[in-house]
Amino acid sequence: MTQLSGKLKWWQSGIIYQIYPRSYQDSNGDGVGDLRGITSRLPYIASLGVQAVWLSPIFKSPMDDFGYDVADYCDIDPLFGTLEDFDALVAEAHRLGLKVMLDYVPNHTSNQHDWFKDALEGHDSPKRDWYVWRDPAEGGGLPNNWKSFFGGPAWTLDEYSGQYYLHQFLPSQPDLNWRNPEVRAAMFEVLRFWMRRGVDGFRVDVIWLLAEDERFLDEPENPDANRQVVGGQIEHSTLLHIYTQDQPETHEYIREMRGVIDEFDDRMMVGEIYLPLDKLLPYAGTPDVPMVHLPFNFHLILLGWEAATIREFADQYDAECIKAGAWPNWVLGNHDQHRFKSRVGAPQYRVAQTLLLTLRGTPTVYYGDEIGMRNVPIPFEKMVDPAGLQQPDSPNAGRDPERTPMQWNAGPNAGFTTEGVNPWLPLAADADTVNVHSEEADPQSDLNYFRALTRLRAQVPALVAGDYRSLDTAHDDVFAFSRSLQGQKVTVLLNFGTFDRDLGSLAAGQTLLSSEGDLPVPELPLRPNEARVVLA
Ligand code: GLC
Repeated sequence: MTQLSGKLKWWQSGIIYQIYPRSYQDSNGDGVGDLRGITSRLPYIASLGVQAVWLSPIFKSPMDDFGYDVADYCDIDPLFGTLEDFDALVAEAHRLGLKVMLDYVPNHTSNQHDWFKDALEGHDSPKRDWYVWRDPAEGGGLPNNWKSFFGGPAWTLDEYSGQYYLHQFLPSQPDLNWRNPEVRAAMFEVLRFWMRRGVDGFRVDVIWLLAEDERFLDEPENPDANRQVVGGQIEHSTLLHIYTQDQPETHEYIREMRGVIDEFDDRMMVGEIYLPLDKLLPYAGTPDVPMVHLPFNFHLILLGWEAATIREFADQYDAECIKAGAWPNWVLGNHDQHRFKSRVGAPQYRVAQTLLLTLRGTPTVYYGDEIGMRNVPIPFEKMVDPAGLQQPDSPNAGRDPERTPMQWNAGPNAGFTTEGVNPWLPLAADADTVNVHSEEADPQSDLNYFRALTRLRAQVPALVAGDYRSLDTAHDDVFAFSRSLQGQKVTVLLNFGTFDRDLGSLAAGQTLLSSEGDLPVPELPLRPNEARVVLA
């Protein structure tokens, strides 16, 4: 890498690889993935050319929301292993040059957390005010119209005390009261606990939801309902969340949180935030008062898959990041969103993968996307995701299709778990061909294309640290841009359509990579669905 890219931090130059621990590798034959399984696969992860592994929650949990309902923030759930297993994972990752990021879930606990059990003891219990309580409305009933992301009201009555408690997700995921300084202190200790254990960073769950408006007013109707964010949410989208999301106090708490992260060297946090650009970038803070290192940019998931739409967004996002002094980042998939190969369609899969790995900013890769895993259809009777089960009328709400076991080989259970054991979610029907082992042997596989892209990033500093500029072409269905650094210029050409596209001098230079698996001469028009990277 050049000196310039050498100045970047690991979370700027590297790729983050997300693992859904239940689904990566089962080491003890119970059909659910675990920490020892992940540790055994770390050499594979290092071989992908990624820099950091982010683990979705592994903490003690009743698993109502598969770990996003935490009963003890400082212990590992026995399903996944022990603290010793975790230490071994971190040591092995670090030995291989990989950073380890955990999922920090500060907005809510499980109702099985000791804090909530204490809070249920009544008005005078020491932890009562650690959660958000309201009296029934005058005349009885719900305190206001706030809704849960998973459907139904965001309030559940505690019959013993006669008060309602707030939960933006399941009733078994009560919201913590971040206005209470004791809550903040306790939750910041959690961060220190893991950083002392060697954790390099955190993905912070629903960070834009931490605070609610103190007046507890009804939220207005959304004239534009039906947008889907986390897990379907048709009902949740019928309101405009002006009192439950993106509150000024949330920004304050994040500044405090950042102070805690900065007590340790070279750590970072990335925040889960589903907001439009003008509200998203403020979460990076300012160079003087920084907030999250990376506010997740989910726009490649949310925007229509068209060259012009994506170009327009990329131009605006890049410019705004520069203005704000923020480092950009890009995401195509995660455990809440359908697999991108299914979303954009198989012919566009490599265009999307190329885009993710060549735009300016940190890419996050969801496990299995590197081998081209697709949504696995899950019939309602096999569904386990609460978001799907609670919203039977929203056929897209379930997140099981993107959470199925990793496909390692063509053997029994695709190598995910022991032969004869039922994996917690069904395996993909195409696992005998779409798997790591088979794809390693095939030079033209999705896996080898992914590795070619990460190798290119390692070899061509402009792709990591270079400036971004979009380029005009005569074709609406082509998105072209350059990345330049100290005299080195790389052009990325993406054909979103199904016609040959002659790009003339834009394609001139030396072809470094093509999604077609060859190295075409510059005169050859961009073929249908082709992604090409050219050294100009
Ligand atoms: C986040 C997680 C999602 C979870 C929700 C509640 O959106 O990504 O999986 O269900 O928070 O914790």
